[in-house]
Amino acid sequence: MYDLHGDEAGRTGEAAGGVLRAFADANPLLDDYRAAVCAVNEGGEPRLYPGSPRILAQLLRTQDALILNEKHPEDAIALRAAMRGTPAAVHERDAYELWLAMLPTRTPRGLVVVDPPYEQTDERPRITATLAAAHRKWAHGVSMIWYPLKDRAAHLRWKDKLRRLGIPKFLAVEHWLYDTDQLGLYNGAGLFIINPPFAFTQDLPPLLEALRAALAPEGHRGTITAEWLG
Ligand SMILES: C[S@@+](CC[C@H](N)C(=O)[O-])C[C@H]1O[C@@H](n2cnc3c(N)ncnc32)[C@H](O)[C@@H]1O
Repeated sequence: MYDLHGDEAGRTGEAAGGVLRAFADANPLLDDYRAAVCAVNEGGEPRLYPGSPRILAQLLRTQDALILNEKHPEDAIALRAAMRGTPAAVHERDAYELWLAMLPTRTPRGLVVVDPPYEQTDERPRITATLAAAHRKWAHGVSMIWYPLKDRAAHLRWKDKLRRLGIPKFLAVEHWLYDTDQLGLYNGAGLFIINPPFAFTQDLPPLLEALRAALAPEGHRGTITAEWLG
């Protein structure tokens, strides 16, 4: 749970360009997202932001299981506290080791969500290697990996490496916020989605356009693309 009025949120100003823009927008395609944020607030402008574990916990059906992981002890304590009262299990392990150890999942279907901080220089190579191994163990499973968009050239080199893994159903959804790249800055974000369900890809184009319109920074249109790498 993130305090949108706390020091950290004030310093980066991320909420103003993100969740608060989505709340200022009336497009019904964003209703589910707004409802997920409203669920942890008491009406009015949101003060708290639910992290992805809390959002996923809200979506659980009785037959679903949610397994979470956080390596750093202090963050693991915060995660356990935020998940109290939900059926989620919380592990405190290295994600790259746990990712492979959990596959194939016990349930016939599953989704692995990877949301790394990208603070280590070897983060991208570790993702590439782990994804390749995960695909060998669990070829039909759905995986979703978040990444920031900063340097376009370096990003294209990473995508080339991923393309060479030969994973057939590999979708890259990318949101470039600005019409010209801002050097050294956060230019947007993307999701790699392996084996996206058919209904999801069908629903995606209008949703991406709704997000682009809602999140466009002042004076920029921005672009959201969905590209098959496989
Ligand atoms: C971007 S944050 C995740 C935010 C979370 N998805 C949310 O919505 O609240 C990345 C987290 O990964 C943790 N982390 C970094 N390296 C890790 C690793 N090798 N294994 C597991 N967790 C790691 C960090 O401590 C940090 O809390």
